[in-house]
Amino acid sequence: MPKKLRKAVFPVAGLGTRFLPATKALAKEMLPVVDKPLIQYAVEEARAAGIEQFCFVTGRGKTALVEHFDIAFELEVMLRERNRTKELAELEAMRIEPGSLLSVRQQVPHGLGHAIWCARAFIADEPFAVLLPDDLILSETPCLKQLADVYAHTGGNVVAVVDVPREHTNRYGIVKTGADDGRLVEVLGLVEKPTPHQAPSTLSIIGRYVLMPEVIAHLAKMERGAGGEIQLTDGMAKLIGQQPFHGLRYEGRRFDCGNKVGYLEAQIAFALKRPDLADAVRGFLKQYL
Ligand code: G1P
Repeated sequence: MPKKLRKAVFPVAGLGTRFLPATKALAKEMLPVVDKPLIQYAVEEARAAGIEQFCFVTGRGKTALVEHFDIAFELEVMLRERNRTKELAELEAMRIEPGSLLSVRQQVPHGLGHAIWCARAFIADEPFAVLLPDDLILSETPCLKQLADVYAHTGGNVVAVVDVPREHTNRYGIVKTGADDGRLVEVLGLVEKPTPHQAPSTLSIIGRYVLMPEVIAHLAKMERGAGGEIQLTDGMAKLIGQQPFHGLRYEGRRFDCGNKVGYLEAQIAFALKRPDLADAVRGFLKQYL
């Protein structure tokens, strides 16, 4: 039986320059989709996969991310006085249990691999999940739960994958594929942001991972990869052949909330899933099309 998956790391140190001026003083992970910040979607998804311990890899100006999961004392007193039981229950449910949220500082923007390495003391010798809050996924079963269920059978490393147009391979980590049953695919190699010409396939990694702690030793070598950064993909590639490594074509739709079009699309898609908003949104959309 693979070791239980209890820990998740959330790399949230990015500056969000693509969303300036909105992100001048606001962490990009606090940008809401409908009425919930991106970080909360990621934390809720992790919880639904059985995660009990959370680590935010942050940087300067990101304290709101940790605050968001704490008690908001004055606000909660006020809601109680006004009998706003629904809002109060929502706030209580989203809190992270005392002691279960840690944050570490990345200090320098040396890449995703470096961010994960910064969480090494938290990870210790356990399997862990990584969730990139920019990748927002709308699905029946939360995406990380889908990965965790696969991991419980296969053990080893499991990453979420999706086919992308060949001209987009230079935006993602790309899988060299082995045995493939149409859902689960054996990972034989990984390349970070290859040109369309060099890409071994068009199967790309999106921001959900179940990883083994051995990846840290590889990241610790601080080898620079694509874009001069320490890449998680390169560290993961070193595990292939040593441990099971699978890609899961997850069920669901992914929105890249790291860019404006993806973010706007997510607003619409998530609003249309909300019983309290869907009709109104559908109504006004018609006027614009
Ligand atoms: C990161 C990873 C990349 C992955 C992508 C998913 O890239 O390095 O392998 O495919 O996230 O969103 P970034 O988007 O940070 O450039």
